[in-house]
Amino acid sequence: MQGDEKNLNRVYLDFHSTTPVDPRVLERMLPYFSEKFGNAASGSHAFGWEAAQAVEFARKRVAELAGAGAREIVFTSGATESNNLAIKGACGAAKKPGHLITMSTEHKAVLDPVRRMEAAGWRVTVLEPGGDGLLDVGRLGEAMREDTALVSVMYANNEIGVVQPVREIGALCRERGVLFHCDAVQGFGKMPVNVEADGIDLMSVTAHKIYGPKGVGALYVRRGPKGAPRLAAQMDGGGHEFGMRPGTLNVPGIVGFGEAAAICGREMEEEGARVAKLRDRLRERLVGELDEVRVNGSMEQRLPGNLNMSFAGVDAEALLMSLPEIALSTGSACSSATVETSHVLRAIGLAEHWVRGAVRFGLGRMTTEEEIEYAAGRVVEAVRRLRRLSPVFEG
Ligand SMILES: Cc1ncc(COP(=O)(O)O)c(C=O)c1O
Repeated sequence: MQGDEKNLNRVYLDFHSTTPVDPRVLERMLPYFSEKFGNAASGSHAFGWEAAQAVEFARKRVAELAGAGAREIVFTSGATESNNLAIKGACGAAKKPGHLITMSTEHKAVLDPVRRMEAAGWRVTVLEPGGDGLLDVGRLGEAMREDTALVSVMYANNEIGVVQPVREIGALCRERGVLFHCDAVQGFGKMPVNVEADGIDLMSVTAHKIYGPKGVGALYVRRGPKGAPRLAAQMDGGGHEFGMRPGTLNVPGIVGFGEAAAICGREMEEEGARVAKLRDRLRERLVGELDEVRVNGSMEQRLPGNLNMSFAGVDAEALLMSLPEIALSTGSACSSATVETSHVLRAIGLAEHWVRGAVRFGLGRMTTEEEIEYAAGRVVEAVRRLRRLSPVFEG
């Protein structure tokens, strides 16, 4: 981590899983736990007004980073909830079940709600990516039908970091009059996401991937001249958040989300360039010093902080266990409660031995050059050691 007293006994390279709260974000949040503790829905006194004002300021800041209007932002508990609200909400508001399109490489927080809708009578098409992880937009067009109500495709993949052709998808959906939902969790704050230019109708984002707190997110819901897409609220209990998400607002969390978004807006470009350079250095060392490795997913259309690599003859779990001081991930950390090999790596057509040897490196705001040199050296050493133990790589 950043700072003078560099501690290489703990190197964090798992920024796709979560990020630390930026100290500037924490500072903003703190007063809202104690002094400014009001309920943003208390409309009859100054404690409530103060909280409501802070929420509205944060709403503007989150909206700004998305290129949206403040009234288009619905605060939620995180992107899992936002995805559920978008998908189940859009289906729930339809008169009868229709057709949904998504991709096999989506996060489970999209795939599971889609499967739930399928069980409720919706027809579902799951598109496969190419070997580079990207969607062929022509194939999306072919999959669209008369009754297609919603397309849900993520902005950037949480495992292999590939960035989908969102703008083309948005344009196609617009042309066909189909709602476009985008899980933009990994791209938001790292890339210039813009709901207008990208043609997005519904977009899920979360604070804890952009140096904000856990447990707060948002769903962008377009409000065009003809009104917003109809969404059925997934909870009952009050008219908060434009009737779409009841419950007392998490004011400190929302304030933190707003600050985190504002910082990303200001620093994203410079930070992205710095992080991409470190990522490229890591790749260069691993590819240069080891044989039989591969990079998974497109290197061109990729998040600045992502590197996903497979090491032949190595079990990634064993590799991670031999590097306890470095925080890395094998499949998606978000689903590490269930032991199964990555559905994303299988979807891009990787042979089983490459899937078993895949490691995700997630770099972020606090990653330093020193950490990257250290991690590269340790990974090279560990891969060589594990290969010496493997009969195939003997000698
Ligand atoms: C692409 C993607 N979507 C959704 C989520 C879930 O977000 P949250 O943790 O805010 O529920 C994650 C990560 O956890 C993610 O990477």
